[in-house]
Amino acid sequence: MNNVNTIKPTIIVVFGATGDLAKRKLFPAFYNLYLDGRMPEKFKILALGRAERSDALYRNHVSENLIAFSRNKIASTEAYQQFASHINYLQNDIDHEESYQIMKQKLDAIDLSFGERANRLFYLSIAPSFIETITNNIKKMDLAANPAQDRIIIEKPFGYNKSSAMLLNELLSQTFKEEQIYRIDHYLGKETVQNILAFRFGNSMFEPLWNRNFIDSVQITVAEEVGVEDRGGFYEDAGALRDMIQNHLMQILTMVAMEAPTSLQADEIRNRKADVLKAIRRITPEEVKHYTVRGQYDKASIKGKPVSGYLQEKGVVANSNTETFVAMKFYLDNWRWQGVPFYVRTGKRMKEKQSSIVIQFKPVPHSTFSFGKEGMMPNRLIINIQPAMDIRLQFMTKKPGLSLSLKPAEMVFDYFSCSTQSPEAYETLVLDALLGDPTLFMRSDQVEEAWDVVTTIQEAWENDKFSSLYKYEAGGWGPEEANKLLARQGHEWASNSLNDVELEEKEVADGKYF
Ligand code: BG6
Repeated sequence: MNNVNTIKPTIIVVFGATGDLAKRKLFPAFYNLYLDGRMPEKFKILALGRAERSDALYRNHVSENLIAFSRNKIASTEAYQQFASHINYLQNDIDHEESYQIMKQKLDAIDLSFGERANRLFYLSIAPSFIETITNNIKKMDLAANPAQDRIIIEKPFGYNKSSAMLLNELLSQTFKEEQIYRIDHYLGKETVQNILAFRFGNSMFEPLWNRNFIDSVQITVAEEVGVEDRGGFYEDAGALRDMIQNHLMQILTMVAMEAPTSLQADEIRNRKADVLKAIRRITPEEVKHYTVRGQYDKASIKGKPVSGYLQEKGVVANSNTETFVAMKFYLDNWRWQGVPFYVRTGKRMKEKQSSIVIQFKPVPHSTFSFGKEGMMPNRLIINIQPAMDIRLQFMTKKPGLSLSLKPAEMVFDYFSCSTQSPEAYETLVLDALLGDPTLFMRSDQVEEAWDVVTTIQEAWENDKFSSLYKYEAGGWGPEEANKLLARQGHEWASNSLNDVELEEKEVADGKYF
C-alpha cells in the first residue's frame, strides 16, 4: 500500500450525500479514516443534495448517523468537530447546468484556500440513471480535467446487462480515462476477502494442492437473513443474479481461482482475475435449467415471528417472478480447474447471515481402516468471510482411547485473534481511491466479462423459458432443488464449521483394539 502521507490535498464530492449509502457507509468511512490519521492533511468533503440546507444542519445529520452506524462512535466531541469542519453542504440539482457552475466556483475557491489545485474524487452515490447527466456536466464544466488528479467512483449496479454496461463504459470513457474510473464492489474491500490473496500466495503449502488434482469441488455461499427490506422497488429490477452473483460472488470466485500474480501491481492482479472470468464456461439456454436454480421466498414464521413473503413486500408487483435466491454451478475451462464444479448460492431471508467459501478436497484414494470409507469426511478448507471471520482446516483424527476410532477435527485461525477492530470495506476502498490505487476496483473488461457469464441465464429467466422459479420458506436454506443440484454429482452443501452433533455423528470406529 502507498504511503498515506503522499496523498495530495483532496476534495471529495459526494453526489447523493443525503442518501442511504452516504449515511450508513460513506460518512462513517470518511470519519474512521480521519480518526486513524488516514485522510490527507488538507481535505474537504463537498456533500451534495437536492434540498437547501446549511452546513450546520448537514453536519448535525452526519453526527447522528455516525452515532448510529460508525464502528468508532463519537467518543471525543473535539475530534468530531475537527472532522466536521471539513464538510460543506452544497445544494445541487443534478439536471441543472447552473448547479455545476456553482460547484466549479466552490471547487476553485477550495483550491485557492489550499494554495494548490487539489485532487478531486467524485463519488456517485446515486441511481444509475443519473450517471450520464452528471458525467456530461463534469465534462462540460471541465471539472475533472486532470487525469493524474481527478477520479470518479461508481457504485453498483454497473449496468443492467452486458450491453448497458458496455454503453456505460463508453459513456464514461468520453470524460475519464480508464485509470480514473473506480468501479466499486464492496466485497473486495472486506478484510477476509483480501485475506484470500494473502493466504493463497503468502504460503507455500496450499498452492501445490490448489488445483483439479486435489480439489474435488468449491462452494461459495453468501446468505442473508434479511429480506429486501424497503428496497422492493429496486430489487424488482435487480433480482439476486444481478444484485449478488454477477458482482460479489463472481469476484470472490476470481480470488479463489486466479493464477498467482507476479506482483501486486493493479493491472497484474486484474489481468489474472479477468482470465478467470474468461475461462468460466458459457452455457446454452437449454442448459440453464441444468446449471441453475432460482427461488423466491415465501412467507413463514421465523423464531415465532411471522415474516412476509417476497410478493407481500412493499414495491413488489403481484405475481413478480424476480428471484431472491440463486444456486448455480460454474466450470472453468482451463488447466488448473478443468472438471471441478464451483457451486455458488446466495439468497435473502435465509436461515442465517453467512458468507463462506468451502474448498473440498478429494476423498482418500483407499481406506486403511476396516470400516472402509464410510463415515470419513473429506478434508475441507473453509474460509468464513462474515459474520464469522476465520479459516478452518478440517481433517480426520484418531479419537483418544483404546479402540481405533476416527473423528473429524478442525484447526481454526480466527481473524479476530490478530485484531479486534478491522476496518470496514468502505474505509479500505475510499482510502485506495484517495491514494489512486485501483487494485480492488473493477476494470471495464472485468465488468463486461462478468455480465457476459450471466447473459444467457438472464435472458432465459426473463423469458421464463427453460427454468422454473421455486418458492422457499423464509428462514431456510432455499428450495430443495438447490440440494438436488449438488446431489446429482454426489455433493451436498457443507456447513461452515463442525458442530457438536456432526462431531458425534461422524465418529467412526474400527471396533478393534490397538
Ligand atoms: C449489496 C446488495 O451490494 O450487498 C444488497 O445490493 C446486499 O442486496 C448487500 O444486501 C450485502 O452486503 P453485505 O456487506 O451486508 O454482505
